[in-house]
Amino acid sequence: MDSLPVSQKVTVTAIAGDGIGAEVMRATQAVLAAAGAAVTWEDAMAGGEAFRKGISTGTPQETLDSIERTGVVLKGPLETPVGYGEKSANVSLRKIFEMYGNIRPVRELPGIKTPFSGRGIDFTVVRENVEDLYAGIEHMQTPGVAQAVKLISEAGCERIAELACALALAEGRKTVTVATKANILKLTEGLLKTVGERVVKRHPALTHEHMIVDNCAHQMVIRPEQFDICVMTNMNGDILSDLAAGLVGGLGVAPSANLGDTVAMFEAVHGSAPQIAGKGLANPTALLLSAVMMLRHIGDFTTAARIEHALYVTLEEGRDLTGDIAAPGTGVGTAAYLERLIGNLGRTSARVPAREYRPIAMRPWPRSTWARAVATREVVGVDIFLESQATPQALGASLVQAAQGSAFSLKLVSCRGAQVWPVAQPHTFIVDHFRARFMFSAAAPANPNAAIADLLARVGEQHSWMHVEKLQRFDGADAFTKDQGEG
Ligand code: NAI
Repeated sequence: MDSLPVSQKVTVTAIAGDGIGAEVMRATQAVLAAAGAAVTWEDAMAGGEAFRKGISTGTPQETLDSIERTGVVLKGPLETPVGYGEKSANVSLRKIFEMYGNIRPVRELPGIKTPFSGRGIDFTVVRENVEDLYAGIEHMQTPGVAQAVKLISEAGCERIAELACALALAEGRKTVTVATKANILKLTEGLLKTVGERVVKRHPALTHEHMIVDNCAHQMVIRPEQFDICVMTNMNGDILSDLAAGLVGGLGVAPSANLGDTVAMFEAVHGSAPQIAGKGLANPTALLLSAVMMLRHIGDFTTAARIEHALYVTLEEGRDLTGDIAAPGTGVGTAAYLERLIGNLGRTSARVPAREYRPIAMRPWPRSTWARAVATREVVGVDIFLESQATPQALGASLVQAAQGSAFSLKLVSCRGAQVWPVAQPHTFIVDHFRARFMFSAAAPANPNAAIADLLARVGEQHSWMHVEKLQRFDGADAFTKDQGEG
């Protein structure tokens, strides 16, 4: 195919990144050029070099500007050097551009032998990419007790479930498996379960399935070929997408996409492989497969298929593969692999799944603040988390006394979710971090905030409290979970 004139090409921000990044980026760009891909590149920098220049996010402003302009990024691995910055540049990029959907295809590749070869594994993990525990809200509550906040929004569930469905429809897939831990985390994981079911059922061409996420991990190993599209919250998706990559050859050949309303970033899953950096040994397959996803994203389906076929033919024939995937003793360097791959452009492989790819019809999300409307809301009590070295009995007694004369009465005290007052189990291990649940003694007062402030002042006279959670009811339903052992 002749090259398109520059004016018709899509401009893509290329971040080579650290370690082997430059080598795999150069190789990938060479294949795309040889295949006639409709792209031009705008080079940008992020990661180790940026951190060392004192940019604490690892993402220089010029790079952010480039991404803002192009809306499409192909990215190599980024390091967070020890001693520079607290946050990874990868996470920063995902957050800054609200790339809420992480797409990880898991497909058996010819010539890559694994214990699962021949099973026809071909599914995609869709991971929510910005919420959940990865919001990164953590506190030491006492010198010895840490807490991370697991934040899940209904809107976040809705958009990731919609994305999973849009991807299923774009790839002609049938089943969307919503995998959650809703049996334990009824409100957070439960939100994805309910919203996921509602969203998938909006699409008549798709079948909805719910699976508890631990069973999903088990099923991925026992019968991975059963899956089509799996959608998960951030941390579950992080773990299971790596497990899934292991089924088909590991992180070295695993591509990914990060999608948001305005920016899409495509990257290999592997890191910067510092041991082999600069030696001409790196395998560019994962970044190349990510670039294939990118080409489909920009609508260049023909070149994407052409590259995919050439890659499959190369892997199938098993000649001139890099050391990490070659038969023992036959490995070559990046350059020889690249030459072989480019030489195979135009050939077709019977192993590439016959699939009619269509653009992913992503639903744009409003820029305004999202909120769910409810008809009624009441405050019914308050949980006060406090630090104490007293026994549960002594703590309970002192809290009952503290609440005297307030609008509240103490309902229970728990330690890490297990009730220790008024009833305690003899086996419960006690640490210095307690939750005291107070409910309004009578009907809620006109100003519950003032009543809570009054209670906090009373409790604070004797105890050190760390945080406070209002106990609310929305539309008549409890907006909090009960403790183990709570009536
Ligand atoms: P790694 O993925 O760089 O290396 C793990 C093993 O796989 C090493 O033996 C490496 O040589 C090999 N390997 C990885 N990619 C390869 C390729 N394309 N060709 C041939 N062999 C390959 O993981 P590691 O060592 O944990 O991380 C190194 C650095 O990369 C760290 O600074 C880490 O923070 C960063 N990293 C960045 C990621 C990203 O930007 N998305 C993801 C993972 C790690």
